[in-house]
Amino acid sequence: MKRIQVWNYLSEYDEMRDTILSAVDDVFSSGQLILGARVATLEADLASYIGVSESGVGVNSGTDALFIALKSLGIGPGDEVITVANTAIPTVAAIVSTGATPKFVDVDAATYLMDCNQLPAAITPQTSCILPVHLFGQCADMAKISEIAKQHKLSVLEDCAQSTGATFNGKKSGQFGDIGAFSFYPTKLLGAYGDGGMILTNSAELQDKCRRLRMYGMDGSYYAEEHGYNSRLDEVQAAILSIKLKTLDVSILRRRQLAARYFERLKDTELILPVEASSNQHAYYLYVVRHPERDRLINSMADQNIHLNVSYPYPISLMRGYAYLGYQEGDLPVTEKLAKEILSLPMYPGLAEEEQDRVCDALQGLLN
Ligand SMILES: Cc1ncc(COP(=O)(O)O)c(C=O)c1O
Repeated sequence: MKRIQVWNYLSEYDEMRDTILSAVDDVFSSGQLILGARVATLEADLASYIGVSESGVGVNSGTDALFIALKSLGIGPGDEVITVANTAIPTVAAIVSTGATPKFVDVDAATYLMDCNQLPAAITPQTSCILPVHLFGQCADMAKISEIAKQHKLSVLEDCAQSTGATFNGKKSGQFGDIGAFSFYPTKLLGAYGDGGMILTNSAELQDKCRRLRMYGMDGSYYAEEHGYNSRLDEVQAAILSIKLKTLDVSILRRRQLAARYFERLKDTELILPVEASSNQHAYYLYVVRHPERDRLINSMADQNIHLNVSYPYPISLMRGYAYLGYQEGDLPVTEKLAKEILSLPMYPGLAEEEQDRVCDALQGLLN
């Protein structure tokens, strides 16, 4: 039986092969491979798609987008940044790379997003920034987060790595905070054929600063105005991303249709299905369900050549790499429970309905 994966880009490539190869050939023939016209076009087009006033800053990954955004906000040693522990490691790694200290709040048991009610108690005189993660394609409550940040004069950096095109109260993620950080990692909603990321903001000053920081701290000439980094987006990735940006809304719609089909097929099983908050339009980067016997399900599905995944099996607060932060088991009960119970079902625009039916049939065979 044909293998079904959680994510697969090959059907997309089959469809777009000629367009992509011709765009790549155009880049190779253009004489400009890094930070050229195609990157500038993507920076302008993604800013306009998301709805921010300043052109974006293309960088070489979502991790760098977070790191450079934090640096531009002046975050460093002595600062605390409040975030969540059920996220991809890079959210936390970017904070640690600046020398600041991540501080975790738990997540909401229904949406798995930052529990805003825990923010006030987590704020200390050292807190400088709130870093919500729009996990699995759904936005955290940016109204509450913005209000708390304003009250306490904190900056807000949105981790939009998993939410390009997802909306909160009708507006796209990335326009609520001081800065939004996006990832173009291939699996993402807007995925490259390699690595890439972008920073978006409404502040000309922050945009300027990020532009300098992504290239050795220079302003144009071979002269560093400040200590900077090397984090550039290349023309090949930008050219491919511009093609894919044109169909991003269609691909999100397709994901939402697949999510609705999953819901119909699985709503009467004992699986806990994703909850879309009423303020949100979920983009279903991942379709994450919950079951106490998660590992049994994953193994039995693999026997039927259906390969599921867990994002994420370990709370970052309990990882050895971050043990020095001092978190113990029991500190983040919802996050810890989710890590043991969640699993992701196949979800990508090229997933055929027959394949999705096979996933649902197999699950129904394993569940009450
Ligand atoms: C929530 C989140 N933040 C940050 C990142 C980092 O992005 P990248 O892999 O492009 O560095 C990712 C992707 O892996 C992510 O899912």
